[in-house]
Amino acid sequence: MIRLIVTSDTHYHPQWRQPLVDMVGQIASLKPDCLIVAGDVAEGIDNFHEMLKLLDVLPCPRLIIAGNHDVWINNGLDSLTLWQEALPQATSQHGAIWLENSNWISGSLGVCGTMSWYDYTGCNPNIGIPMEAYADLKKTISNDARYINWPFTDQVFATQLEEGFAKRLDTLEANPLIKHIVAITHVPVFPETIVKKQNDRVWEMGQAYFYNFTLGKRMAASRKISHVVSGHIHWKFDLQVAGVNGPIAVKVLGAHYGKPAFMVLDLPND
Ligand SMILES: [Fe+2]
Ligand SMILES: [Fe+2]
Repeated sequence: MIRLIVTSDTHYHPQWRQPLVDMVGQIASLKPDCLIVAGDVAEGIDNFHEMLKLLDVLPCPRLIIAGNHDVWINNGLDSLTLWQEALPQATSQHGAIWLENSNWISGSLGVCGTMSWYDYTGCNPNIGIPMEAYADLKKTISNDARYINWPFTDQVFATQLEEGFAKRLDTLEANPLIKHIVAITHVPVFPETIVKKQNDRVWEMGQAYFYNFTLGKRMAASRKISHVVSGHIHWKFDLQVAGVNGPIAVKVLGAHYGKPAFMVLDLPND
């Protein structure tokens, strides 16, 4: 057996430090074999370092996925520089693993991850807004429009990440020693994790920027993915969806600013 602990949306900022210190202490006492952060690690690159510094006390491997907040422009760094250089470099400086470009393996268990990006497949069809309108609408709904300045459209970037993830997943699936795969994403990938707030039109419009169901379809077709854990929506889910080889456990962390959350996954790896 192996013990994975997954947290997400730690959103490190000095004002929320103490709850994060407490959480890392709890995690340490549970002696994980691997710790995973599923994105929105911190508010700004300096705080990204601070969060990773907190995790330095854990003797196990630490796997890091970025979230949309991690690529918000800050400290003179643009989103592309953060994404391609500053965040992966900070991760390796702390001896952690940037899961966006490498898999992690322990015995027969593989971990494969991506930030994943919303491609508007999560948009609510019942509110009468066509999918194509969500690029322009974004500035009225999501702060990502204000604070992310890379040159990609959301759909182009989402496709880039999907293709990278699919290659890493294929590598694990082709490996005869791997029996089970845990997939980690920041943006959730299954419609079963839609949070319904029918009297809140802004929330319902915002669903376009919460999900990537294209990736969920790819995962449901996987022969080896047994668990998918995500963050981003700050709303807890723990359910199962049908996969090609049986049910897939789908979990979303219910962390919030100043109220961090984690989950323990004790899984076979022999
Ligand atoms: Fe978040
Ligand atoms: Fe997020």
